[in-house]
Amino acid sequence: MRIYKVGGAVRDRLLGKPVTDIDWVVVGATTEEMLAKGFRPVGADFPVFLHPKSGEEYALARTERKSGRGYGGFTFHASPEVTLEEDLIRRDLTINAMAEDDQQNLTDPYHGQRDLEARLLRHVSPAFAEDPLRVLRVARFAARYATLGFTVAPETLALMHQLSESGELEALTPERSWKEISRALMEDQPQVFVEVLRACGALKVLMPEVDALFGVPQPPAHHPEIDTGAHTLSVLQQAALHKQPLTVRWACLLHDLGKGLTPEDEWPRHIAHEFKGLKLIKAVNERFKVPKDCQELALLVAEYHTHGHRALELKPSTLLELLQSFDIYRRPQRFEEFIAACEMDARGRKGLEERSYPQADYLRGAATAARSVAVQPLLEKGFKGPELGEEIKRERLKALKAYKEATSV
Ligand code: CTP
Repeated sequence: MRIYKVGGAVRDRLLGKPVTDIDWVVVGATTEEMLAKGFRPVGADFPVFLHPKSGEEYALARTERKSGRGYGGFTFHASPEVTLEEDLIRRDLTINAMAEDDQQNLTDPYHGQRDLEARLLRHVSPAFAEDPLRVLRVARFAARYATLGFTVAPETLALMHQLSESGELEALTPERSWKEISRALMEDQPQVFVEVLRACGALKVLMPEVDALFGVPQPPAHHPEIDTGAHTLSVLQQAALHKQPLTVRWACLLHDLGKGLTPEDEWPRHIAHEFKGLKLIKAVNERFKVPKDCQELALLVAEYHTHGHRALELKPSTLLELLQSFDIYRRPQRFEEFIAACEMDARGRKGLEERSYPQADYLRGAATAARSVAVQPLLEKGFKGPELGEEIKRERLKALKAYKEATSV
């Protein structure tokens, strides 16, 4: 049997990037031989094994043929006769279809190294179409390597277009799609992920609510970039520049979905877009079975981001309602993430990327003031039940009034 390093490990070593995961391919071996060497099988009918010591993945060289729609529709053919070249040709991109032996000799039948140098994400063969998830993968790699100058080859974009129109993307499971989306959002240039999906027609299949934002104008006084889609991409870019977590990036992507619902005769104003967007956000959240913390923050940011921007003008009672909606007493982190998303929204505007955002500290100060109300003295005064709740609220309102007076000059 011959063993080769394949895929991302070879690609990233050649790019001079750190290698975290190593995948191996084994040529000329049977399942029985692998088991005899102590490898542990990963699945019942999947020719992939875990190394007994390192835990790394070793896959028997295989050919794959699609036998039906969706991810289930695969037949695998793994046998000692399958060559390394046959295994590599069924992979997604040329830069992912290189193999290396233990002497670092490269096997590169589909010119991955040439495409690495040309900074091109190019599919290996028509077998690309056998897994529609690859449309999202290519967009994710584009987001990751955009800084290095990578782009998607025109013929690959055309194939991604065909796949997007074929209805195959609808057959992807929410779990597989979300894994790609969430990884892509955490890349250096997550806006490129959205751009590539849009360029190949996949965005209108996967997230028509985001696609609908392109071509929708906003008032130039607040939004010099005018286009709502362009604004959304800039907000996402700011979130990456400021190293925001996934929750914030997801909220940034969805915060203005309501603007896609504004009747054209109301443009460029978007009255009540904060509320109108909520049902769209719920639909997207459910479509991809998004984790709860991301779901929640996206809804809260959409509903309250304009409150965030107007923080300094808010009446103490409105400020209190905002703080209560976030349950800042038990969920301080979530309120910080809200503030961060508002700031990214304010900076994701053409020419305003460097602006200061005094609202952030003001909101933090307000939260501290509301939290400073101690409950114990109220209990000692004999308040209990709903009365206690009312009294706490009154005290918090007092604290916020004092805060507002102390901070206004
Ligand atoms: N692969 C593929 N099609 C897929 C998934 C994986 O062709 N839908 C192949 C590619 O050759 C890829 C390898 O399997 O390089 C390993 O896949 P994975 O670990 O998912 O990705 P990596 O390329 O290692 O990239 P990452 O750095 O994102 O993990």
